[in-house]
Amino acid sequence: MEGIVPIKGKAAFILAAALAFATLAGSAIAASPVFDVDREFYPYYPSLIKWNKSALDFTPPSVCQGCHEKQYKEWSASVHQLAFQDPVYQGELNKAVKAVGHEISRQCEGCHSPAGVVTGEIKGPGNAGLSEMALAGVSCDICHSVSGVTHWQTPSHEPENGSFILTPGVETKDGPRFVKRGPFKPSEECGGGFHDCAESSLHLQADLCASCHQVYHYDAHFPLEATYLEWKHGPYAQKNVLCQDCHMVDTASFKKAADQFIKPDRKEYRHYFNGANYLLSYLAAGAAKKAGNQEQADLFMKQYQMAVDRLKSAAEIEIAPSYQKGELKELQVRVKNVRAGHNLPTSLTNVRQMWLEIVAKDEAGKTVLTSGQVGPEGSLPADARLFNSDGMGDNFHFAIDPWVVTSFSRHDTIPPRGYKDVYYGVPALKGMKKLNVEVKLRYRQADQKVAEALLKAVPKDIDLEKIYGLKAVPPLPVVDMALKKASLSTRQAAH
Ligand code: HEC
Ligand code: HEC
Ligand code: HEC
Ligand code: HEC
Ligand code: HEC
Repeated sequence: MEGIVPIKGKAAFILAAALAFATLAGSAIAASPVFDVDREFYPYYPSLIKWNKSALDFTPPSVCQGCHEKQYKEWSASVHQLAFQDPVYQGELNKAVKAVGHEISRQCEGCHSPAGVVTGEIKGPGNAGLSEMALAGVSCDICHSVSGVTHWQTPSHEPENGSFILTPGVETKDGPRFVKRGPFKPSEECGGGFHDCAESSLHLQADLCASCHQVYHYDAHFPLEATYLEWKHGPYAQKNVLCQDCHMVDTASFKKAADQFIKPDRKEYRHYFNGANYLLSYLAAGAAKKAGNQEQADLFMKQYQMAVDRLKSAAEIEIAPSYQKGELKELQVRVKNVRAGHNLPTSLTNVRQMWLEIVAKDEAGKTVLTSGQVGPEGSLPADARLFNSDGMGDNFHFAIDPWVVTSFSRHDTIPPRGYKDVYYGVPALKGMKKLNVEVKLRYRQADQKVAEALLKAVPKDIDLEKIYGLKAVPPLPVVDMALKKASLSTRQAAH
């Protein structure tokens, strides 16, 4: 930009416009003055990471493990550890680079492997030849080197696309020193001679997580994933129950935090980052087993179980009959978000699927009403009531890929401590006294076809059969988050 400063007036405008055009060539969306990007401030754009470089490199997790075995073990089976190697991610990344060019991969990797972006080590999709640090995804030395955030300087003026500052080491009068930032006031022996310690209030705030849990379109700045803002605008933020309070604890502590708005005890914090992605934990367990590491496979299966348990505790269903002229005419199904600190579902709402399945039978066992049954090829019927979103590119076209989606044609998720009602019409039930209804709230990571397409797109060096033992993509497992049965009178009792 320095080169254009001395030129005044119209010429400067034309030159600046030409430069802007050149940098945007290849992207579909023109720059917007609302989302002005300062590329000097954000040198890794479209990722908004900043790196305070010193003579010291990033430290891979196996080094931290030497002194922090407990945290290492918990983190090693987490989705954060898998964030870069995740085959679903690698498939989508590969598609992204083919579709819009290499620049977009910086945006993705700024959250999925931040160290790999700032050091310039990651050159494209795939795992081949990468260092432990790049492969480790969201590892110890990412979070504990975060020295600040730039949430209010971003183009959207919200946390966005990795808007944090990494400072793994600092220059001192005794030479360069590692500094690790954490929740406590450091003791004398903190760091065991390997690193200095700094007390960081940021690590006791959701802002630490926000930069990566607000995903914006790489160019249009459309909020594709908005977990942080959903949380911030909901009741948990007001009562200071943070991401950490539900996701850095075991299942029992998370339930207590969610139900009673109580922060866990200091001793209860763990590095599980346990969420909902049981599929990824399951795949990783298969890979660890195949590699002969049963102990690690067991840790992944523990995460798998925690994800399933979390999903099963997130929602509740209520069924209420509605009568017209004394006849049962309608069922009201209420789905309540009882324990998610943000919307349900959250994050990749245009990919995740959460839907209602309903079966109603009369007392003779004849099915009179169904909705939401998974078809033979794993597809959902058109009548399924889904809670998620549909992404859309420009011109009202349905789209899934994050570089195409610039709006939602439908966004239908359930706010924290909120509910949504769904109504089902009941056909005439001649001579029957009872209607037996069973309603399930079901969840899976993606539509079968979408999952197959992503896994098929993985880069060549990731052999799904060799690493994961996958010959073909099996039917995606479905978790029943909630189940409710009711036996309803077909005629309204006289008052
Ligand atoms: C701002 C940080 C951020 C950026 C930028 C980002 N992601 Fe992600 N990504 C996430 C988070 C957080 C999740 C987890 C969401 C969830 O589990 O619901 C995720 C999940 C995913 C998943 C689902 C993985 C699975 O196992 O189901 C895919 C695929 C993915 N991202 C691909 C991409 C691609 C491709 C890009 C770049 C075009 C990208 N991401 C950019 C943060 C980011
Ligand atoms: C996604 C961010 C993140 C990652 C990755 C992460 N940590 Fe932490 N870590 C935190 C937060 C937040 C806290 C504070 C939790 C609390 O409130 O006690 C913490 C706390 C700690 C503490 C203080 C004691 C404790 O357990 O609370 C140590 C030590 C620590 N982390 C080491 C590690 C090591 C070693 C790794 C890698 C194996 C790691 N962390 C990975 C975010 C992270
Ligand atoms: C040579 C041993 C050693 C190594 C290697 C080491 N640490 Fe530590 N670290 C310590 C000791 C000792 C403490 C203080 C006691 C404790 O909290 O466990 C500590 C404390 C911490 C804390 C808590 C700081 C606070 O006061 O809140 C964090 C966070 C941390 N280390 C992160 C890391 C990370 C990340 C790595 C790897 C990049 C790492 N450590 C490598 C020895 C080590
Ligand atoms: C009150 C507890 C609570 C708080 C606070 C909370 N979460 Fe969650 N989170 C849950 C539950 C329950 C689920 C599982 C249901 C779901 O997927 O929404 C979940 C799921 C998730 C998922 C996986 C979504 C998916 O379906 O793939 C991510 C990512 C996530 N949370 C991140 C966060 C972040 C980031 C914050 C802070 C801004 C946060 N959570 C705050 C309870 C909480
Ligand atoms: C450097 C970016 C980054 C930071 C910082 C970060 N996350 Fe994440 N997180 C991710 C990515 C990327 C994924 C998804 C990885 C995937 O699915 O491949 C993820 C996944 C998760 C999941 C699992 C979601 C699921 O579907 O199971 C939870 C829970 C979560 N993060 C919580 C947190 C919390 C709590 C913090 C703050 C203490 C935090 N994250 C900080 C990048 C980050």
